[in-house]
Amino acid sequence: MNRAHALALLCIVFASMSLADAPLEPLRAPQAFDSIRNRAARSNAYFTEAAKVLQHPRCLNCHPATRTPTQGDDLHPHIPLVQAGPENRGTKELPCSSCHGPENAPTLGGRVKSVPGNEHWSLAPASMAWQGLTTAQICEQIKDPKRNGNRTLAQIEKHLAEDHLVGWAWHPGEGRAPAPGTQEVFGQLIAAWVKTGAHCQQASL
Ligand code: HEC
Ligand code: HEC
Repeated sequence: MNRAHALALLCIVFASMSLADAPLEPLRAPQAFDSIRNRAARSNAYFTEAAKVLQHPRCLNCHPATRTPTQGDDLHPHIPLVQAGPENRGTKELPCSSCHGPENAPTLGGRVKSVPGNEHWSLAPASMAWQGLTTAQICEQIKDPKRNGNRTLAQIEKHLAEDHLVGWAWHPGEGRAPAPGTQEVFGQLIAAWVKTGAHCQQASL
């Protein structure tokens, strides 16, 4: 193999590597914001970066504004139309678990490549609706124990960094784009946000 061939081959290897391995959208680590001197501004910058995840369709589809989930990157209504039901796990006639198993399940082809799954698959409660909210509004909501499942900031931090259902968003099954970056970096951003006072941008009213 001559040099030109070798180079060409290397280019192909790198091109396919970056396609396969690099997260589709980068998520900057907290260190990227070290130069922001003002603590509140830096705190807010961490949250704004983390919001690339919070505002991603993989999260938003389960945190809808109504009591029915949405699907896809365009947040279209769930097909078939399903209802959250009394415990956010669907109705007795049509529980989420009748289609969503404990893990992602490949289909036999067709438009839908896989049915997403997780042991705790259920719809986020109404108080945790995010669709249509600004990042500043989500920020305030996540901090509010009345709306966040009565969690402290430390518990929110742990939930986001470690929860398996949250983690599904980075392993969403074939045919679905994962949330940006990794759950680890996302957790680091939230931890840095909490440590710097958990500031939110003034919500515009
Ligand atoms: C399959 C549905 C589903 C997906 C996908 C999902 N969530 Fe949730 N989420 C829930 C449910 C159900 C709860 C309530 C469970 C609880 O309180 O323990 C919840 C609660 C939360 C809470 C705590 C309450 C709050 O609003 O402060 C946060 C934060 C959260 N989710 C973040 C995320 C993020 C970030 C993603 C994407 C990376 C995500 N969720 C993806 C279903 C989902
Ligand atoms: C009749 C089967 C069925 C039932 C019941 C069902 N789902 Fe689904 N759901 C699916 C299928 C299939 C997909 C994948 C569709 C696709 O990728 O286009 C899906 C996708 C989703 C998605 C979108 C994932 C994403 O980011 O694109 C969410 C969120 C969701 N379901 C939540 C729920 C919840 C919550 C319940 C119960 C209240 C439920 N589903 C009940 C079949 C079902």
